[in-house]
Amino acid sequence: MARAVVVYESMFGNTQEVARAVAEGLAAHLPVETVEVSDAPVTVADDQVLVVGGPTHAFSMSRARTRQDAAAQATASVVSRGTGVREYLDRLEVAPGQPWAASFDTKVERPRLPGSAARAIEQRLRRKGCRIAHPAQTFRVRGTTGPLSAGELGRARGFGERIGERVTGGTQPDQTKPDQTKPDQTEPGGSGHRTTRHTLLALLAALMAVGGVGGAVGLFVGAPDFFGPDTAEIYSRLPFESPQFAGAALLVAVVLPMAVTAVLAWRGSRHAAAAGAAAGTVLVGWIIVQLAFIGAVFWLQPACAAVGLVVNYLAITLNRSVEPARPLRRSVASRR
Ligand SMILES: Cc1cc2nc3c(=O)[nH]c(=O)nc-3n(C[C@H](O)[C@H](O)[C@H](O)COP(=O)(O)O)c2cc1C
Repeated sequence: MARAVVVYESMFGNTQEVARAVAEGLAAHLPVETVEVSDAPVTVADDQVLVVGGPTHAFSMSRARTRQDAAAQATASVVSRGTGVREYLDRLEVAPGQPWAASFDTKVERPRLPGSAARAIEQRLRRKGCRIAHPAQTFRVRGTTGPLSAGELGRARGFGERIGERVTGGTQPDQTKPDQTKPDQTEPGGSGHRTTRHTLLALLAALMAVGGVGGAVGLFVGAPDFFGPDTAEIYSRLPFESPQFAGAALLVAVVLPMAVTAVLAWRGSRHAAAAGAAAGTVLVGWIIVQLAFIGAVFWLQPACAAVGLVVNYLAITLNRSVEPARPLRRSVASRR
């Protein structure tokens, strides 16, 4: 029968508590055991679900040196006295049938530091051939030694439940109901899980929106050298011979969609993909319309078209870290 194993590393006990809560959530859907990383089996069968978690140390998974640093800060003996998840993942052997997997980590609440052991674990699991059942999750601690921030155990149980639902053919994360486990929900302005791709999309779209505002202002004031020496001639080729009309169109067609995309992507919203795809497409269309009206005039035109294509690409690949659902029951049955 399919079963799940939650493998954790923990120095002060916080990640251990999270691991147990994740297992409680998973247990609503399939048999589960929770194992400290030094005792964890290093093979994963293809009907097994593997969840791996550890504390974030120096922006990623722990190393022998960071574990020594942690042990030096501990007032009691540390939980993980052997190796960590980094070494466990080095040795992990994954069956060829792409077993489901997920990852989590713990990080300090303040200051908000970049980097995440969970994301590094997820990357390793994927490279080893696992299918990711749920995006990597971060749970917060109030200080280096803990305790866990308020509500984190509830979120951890929810995380486990959602993995269980996913692998047994239930609902899909991020797509059906609001995900109470998302790490950025308590952050100002955060409403979802912001990946590196979301950040890139947000920055590029924001850059384009700011550039567009600059262009619109130049057109509104009818700057006499806006397009260089041929400006008067180019203005005469604009609809209604009006740079103000072109400026308004620029605001509506480029600035607004790009600004909306930047905000949604920064918030990790699931609507960022649609907004980005639309904004990128409209920008490319805008350049084509420009070429039709005023011809090829300056290097910014191909540059903007390229930005439009990149925005489009980032948007349509935004959610690719979440694998398509493949119910575990079916995969087990199909092997019989
Ligand atoms: C050596 C060391 C490095 C750390 N680096 C980070 C870090 O880069 N980012 C972060 O948010 N927390 C960092 N922390 C805090 C740990 O994430 C925190 O101690 C851990 O979540 C507690 O979990 P545990 O009780 O399971 O060990 C660090 C802690 C130690 C001891």
